[in-house]
Amino acid sequence: MDDKRFYITTPIYYPSDKLHIGHSYTTVVTDAMARYKRMRGFDVMFLTGTDEHGQKIEAKAKEAGVSPKEYVDDIVKGIKALWERMGITYDRYIRTTDDYHIQSVQRIFKKLYDKGEIYKSVYKGKYCKPCESFWTESQLKDGRCPDCGREVEAAEEEAYFFRLSAYTGRILKLYEDQPEFLQPQTRVNEMVNNFLKPGLDDLCVSRTSFTWGVPVDFDPGHVVYVWVDALSNYITALGYENDRYNDMAYWPADVQLMAKEIIRFHAIIWPALLMALELPLPKKIYGHGWLLFDGDKMSKSKGNVVDPVILCERYGVDAIRYYLLREIPFGQDGSFTNESLIGRINADLANDLGNLVSRTVAMVEKYFGSTLPTARAEGLEDAELLQMAGALKARVEDEMEQLQFPHALTEIFQLVARTNKYIDQTMPWVLAKEEKDQPRLATVMYNLLESIRIISVLITPFMPHTAVEIQKQIGAGEELTLWESTAKFGLLPENVTVSKGPVLFPRIDLEKELEELAKLDAPSEKAKEAPAPKAEKKNEVPGVATALDIADFAKVELRVAQVTACEPVPKADKLLLLKLDDGQGGRQVVSGIHQWYEPADLIGKKIIVVANLKPAKLRGVESQGMILAADVGESARVLFVDEDVPVGSKIR
Ligand code: ME8
Ligand code: MG
Repeated sequence: MDDKRFYITTPIYYPSDKLHIGHSYTTVVTDAMARYKRMRGFDVMFLTGTDEHGQKIEAKAKEAGVSPKEYVDDIVKGIKALWERMGITYDRYIRTTDDYHIQSVQRIFKKLYDKGEIYKSVYKGKYCKPCESFWTESQLKDGRCPDCGREVEAAEEEAYFFRLSAYTGRILKLYEDQPEFLQPQTRVNEMVNNFLKPGLDDLCVSRTSFTWGVPVDFDPGHVVYVWVDALSNYITALGYENDRYNDMAYWPADVQLMAKEIIRFHAIIWPALLMALELPLPKKIYGHGWLLFDGDKMSKSKGNVVDPVILCERYGVDAIRYYLLREIPFGQDGSFTNESLIGRINADLANDLGNLVSRTVAMVEKYFGSTLPTARAEGLEDAELLQMAGALKARVEDEMEQLQFPHALTEIFQLVARTNKYIDQTMPWVLAKEEKDQPRLATVMYNLLESIRIISVLITPFMPHTAVEIQKQIGAGEELTLWESTAKFGLLPENVTVSKGPVLFPRIDLEKELEELAKLDAPSEKAKEAPAPKAEKKNEVPGVATALDIADFAKVELRVAQVTACEPVPKADKLLLLKLDDGQGGRQVVSGIHQWYEPADLIGKKIIVVANLKPAKLRGVESQGMILAADVGESARVLFVDEDVPVGSKIR
């Protein structure tokens, strides 16, 4: 066994649209880890890719008037260009439409079938002939078709199922035996309480109702449904059941990263599939939090400001990478705001780091004509700086091994601050006045440069371009940019030569920039899909987020409605489609509450609907308004109304 191998993965993203900054987040984090491990001498395999099958993409392509493959080819080209721009050093990119993957998935499916892990059965439900719709029992209204109210008949749809239910006990035991397997720990509790304790159901793994997927080769008409196709990418990309690659030596993965909404699939279905295939399990599944924007999960409807291409163009790749890695507490949700982004750039990057480098280089130029003389004189101010710089490597490593990127950066920026303080303490401009102080001045400059060198090496996984630029300016040769070289203070040559370079991070005028961004976002096509009312700044009242005139509030039409039917939106883990009786002819609303509510919890209940929102499309399904819910911690609680309040009542 070669324990110098390190296998790390991102999810494979849906190429149904361009990616947004939320996808960049996982990928940047993974890249930082991959770069760090490479610098530490590991043989790294960093896998990313795209999950290209399914109904949604089939529908998107149809809408665009192209074949599904043409559609995804185009998006994938954009994704690869984005990763190149963002400095993402993936070693392998898998597309689930790649021939070798398709072949592997077919073999995996057959293998599981032959072992009895997959069996053929039926989906049971009801069928409305005139509507040509298949309904589950809970979707019916008084036993009739929820759309037209007519009689329905019993119906069945043939499908294959994976015996997931048989794995409940083994997955529970896995969490107990390997506390490192699923992190952060809060995710374990969610899995146990929400899914494992109630007992797992078998999982539907084939469909006959669409064709854009991997065909089940021994049963024409069936295509492999979602998770067997998607999850197996992590091993097919290494060559499992195909001849394209021969890299299974990297398995099991060291870390598999993703956001929390797909943890369920990776922490339950994925290990169960691997157990069924008799393969070792990944060492760690990490479910980080969400990047929130205006308090909501990032989505394509947020417009240009979350387009990573635009962000990188405006602020530079390293500034964006830094912000993502530093600002979002890893494992928890964090808000993306333009204010905090620009604040970080100005304070941490332009002011602290950028200034430190430019001041130091400028002083060496000015006082010594760019090359340090070799005479030295130590001073009382030196010891603390040297000690801190020398200890930094180990501290950063500790944090990185825990995937605590923000903490690792905090450690590094403490040395940046300490080095700036060293300038204030030693006052080089005073030393420069006296000929006798030249050796002391040279020592101060050398210590500054050496401290900057150590900082530049340790920021490399996070800000690779900046690191190289700094190293150029301070005259650090290649061997002085290696990770191991940060263990020792004093490696730059005594007579080092600096050379001034461009400003690393220009300061941004916050007010002006926010105005520019507002303009940039206004004409966005996407923004129109989600008409989020923007608060007007001038109405602000101290202590109150936004003060509305009563007339403004009166514009919002709130009504009591009753949920007559409810079903999950296909391929959208979090969305429920609710049919409402609002006393005005009915409407449908898509709501992101599936994590907390099942259809049965809602059917028959009375709720409050915002009745005059512009309709919006969510995952291709029209939503005519929204229902009111309270934010409670990370979850949402729907506001229910007493049964005796009539449907259609207006709320004032
Ligand atoms: O779920 N904050 O693909 P997907 C943080 N194809 N991370 C975010 C994010 C946000 N606001 N938005 C997206 C799929 N992400 C499946 C996965 S894997 C076998 C199949 C990141 O395009 C995060 O990593 O919806 C999240 O888990 C992933 O993108 C979802 O990407
Ligand atoms: Mg998703």
